[in-house]
Amino acid sequence: MAEVVLTGLGKAYGDGTRAVTDLNLDIRDGEFLVLVGPSGCGKTTALRMIAGLEQITEGTIRIGEQVVNDVPSRDRDVAMVFQSYALYPHLNVYDNIAFGLTLRKLAKSEIDHRVREVAEVLELTEHLDRKPRNLSGGQRQRVAMGRAIVRAPQAFLMDEPLSNLDAKLRVQMRAQIARIQREIGVTTVYVTHDQTEAMTLGDRVAVMRRGVLQQVGPPQELYDRPVNLFVAGFIGSPGMNLVSARLEENDGRFWVSLNSDALLLPESVLRQRPALRQYVGRDVVVGIRPEDMEDTALADAREGEILHSVADLVEAMGSDVLVHFPVDVPPVVTDDTRELAQDAGTDDLPKTSKGTVLVGRFSPRTRIYEGQPVAAWVDTSRLHFFDPATGSSIWK
Ligand SMILES: Nc1ncnc2c1ncn2[C@@H]1O[C@H](COP(=O)(O)OP(=O)(O)OP(=O)(O)O)[C@@H](O)[C@H]1O
Ligand SMILES: [Mg+2]
Repeated sequence: MAEVVLTGLGKAYGDGTRAVTDLNLDIRDGEFLVLVGPSGCGKTTALRMIAGLEQITEGTIRIGEQVVNDVPSRDRDVAMVFQSYALYPHLNVYDNIAFGLTLRKLAKSEIDHRVREVAEVLELTEHLDRKPRNLSGGQRQRVAMGRAIVRAPQAFLMDEPLSNLDAKLRVQMRAQIARIQREIGVTTVYVTHDQTEAMTLGDRVAVMRRGVLQQVGPPQELYDRPVNLFVAGFIGSPGMNLVSARLEENDGRFWVSLNSDALLLPESVLRQRPALRQYVGRDVVVGIRPEDMEDTALADAREGEILHSVADLVEAMGSDVLVHFPVDVPPVVTDDTRELAQDAGTDDLPKTSKGTVLVGRFSPRTRIYEGQPVAAWVDTSRLHFFDPATGSSIWK
């Protein structure tokens, strides 16, 4: 086990493609770090550089005490699990797991001890005699992990190991991977483009965009304090609502004007984000998480906390109700939001003549129906603010 430290890490491919730029990450001993970001942002490239499968262009990689820039892959003592895991079809589970150890000519008793221990952790003990074709997808994936674990590597590198599994199995395996990693405590770098997977698995999550690290921190910190529009829009599902609005000062009070409605900024927000005062009279990007809204009929709403509209779409999810409604302000269109929309597969942003469509996550007790008026209470103490020009979060 060891820490993995990336300093100024960069990669330009031979054809000139810039895949990773100045990546600095300090992955602690035993930590589960998730690298997440849209397709093509450089996750696999970063992981392959750590594994020694890709030449690095700039920077250094240290594993434990050793700078491994010039250490060949097989001597780095890291184990990789990929999305496509090839098991040997003619070998049973036991021999598949033992394969690497047999190659290394370890003593039979030592191999046996390790294989059984790993099989126990992975709940594969009763399947040790089976051939891969007689295993379920999830069991096969666990055998692939077993092969990696049994080597007791310094670090685990996983590149979207669950993306070939169906949705239900993915959720099960996600929980198992988290449990196994905690049990064996091996430093793990896990790559995914799925933000839910990132949030549920990572001790810390590192969000990348176009080869550049945007933010790294515990999942809740990324969710509550995204540093920019990109992270704000990427983390969370349904995503954070983003609207352009004008910040106005009136009688010493600060208002966010959404044309037909205005939200009153609580003192607490101004204390947390003093730099907001500099935006008076200008447009800002306002972010509202869906769960920070509620049907006014079910909330204790006061002046300056309500948005009025008509419900476009009402989706009953059981545990809550997603209410879609337009507000009379233009949608936020920046480089970030364009890329996020593309990544989500909705390459054109909602350009409705009615303005921007917001999504509120209301209690299932709401009685709002499609085509009916909506009065949405907004928890104004939890609003997010971004600079429209830079996309950076507005704090100090
Ligand atoms: N061998 C290569 N030669 C040239 N460019 C490459 C090569 N491999 C990857 N790239 C480019 O480098 C960038 C980063 O690719 P990478 O595979 O690291 O992204 P990723 O985040 O893993 O994406 P995905 O989520 O689709 O797996 C992309 O623009 C990609 O097209
Ligand atoms: Mg990849």
